[in-house]
Amino acid sequence: MSTLGTERVLSVHHWNDTLFSFRTTRDRGLRFENGQFVMIGLQQEGRPLTRAYSIASPNYEEHLEFFSIKVPNGPLTSRLQHLKPGDPIIVSRKPTGTLVLHDVRPGRNLYLMSTGTGLAPFLSVIQDPETYERFEKVVLIHGVRQINELAYAEFIEQELPNNEFFGEAVRDQLIYYPTVTREPYRNNGRLTDAIMSGKLMKETGLPPLDHTVDRAMICGSPAMLQDCCDMLDSVGFEISPRIGEPGDYVIERAFVEK
Ligand code: A2P
Repeated sequence: MSTLGTERVLSVHHWNDTLFSFRTTRDRGLRFENGQFVMIGLQQEGRPLTRAYSIASPNYEEHLEFFSIKVPNGPLTSRLQHLKPGDPIIVSRKPTGTLVLHDVRPGRNLYLMSTGTGLAPFLSVIQDPETYERFEKVVLIHGVRQINELAYAEFIEQELPNNEFFGEAVRDQLIYYPTVTREPYRNNGRLTDAIMSGKLMKETGLPPLDHTVDRAMICGSPAMLQDCCDMLDSVGFEISPRIGEPGDYVIERAFVEK
């Protein structure tokens, strides 16, 4: 049996010239863990052209949401960006991925480190009530070049704290730290520099990173992943070696060249 199914686009939101999000219908049989990805795509010359996309919506929602870049000559995103409500879209029925809570050891504070569309899986994780049960503070860091790339900022800052089921946990426990590298903003610089210099800790009131109690999930470009891994490894954190084997932190590539 093919693992590819066809869903319909429900809505599309363009954040700017380079980023957009869209919602699709969800097969009733599709089960996934918050933080996982699926293959999605379009038919091209009679064959499916698919790429891995993190599911940005939490697993209790009836729809699926995805967050994508628009690459002018990208084989898939150059077409995906023109999606309209009602259009068909291929969605695989086999979710997988490493950014899952059960592969992170129990701990005190959970750091979600992302750049660009690497934010997507963490949108799902911060809407999971279990995240707030398992950790005291949840620190969502989003690094981008320009302010207009801070997609979902309003949702995170205005809507989530008012969620009728877990808004109180969000208000008490979620710390959102957006940082911009190429224009002036309230937080400037790369997230790795903000952590290593102690700036992030100073501004948020958090204690220095401690591998015995702090945990992390990381999603971004290959270079960002490497730098974050080096940073955590240098202070004693252990990476989860594979799915099903918990570590102090887990990583996933943001699927950038689409
Ligand atoms: P910078 O502007 O200093 O390159 P990109 O679009 O290239 O993936 O970058 C998205 C954001 O991630 C930018 O703010 C960029 O900063 C930052 N970034 C790029 N590489 C790294 C890295 N190795 N570690 C941390 N942040 C990075």
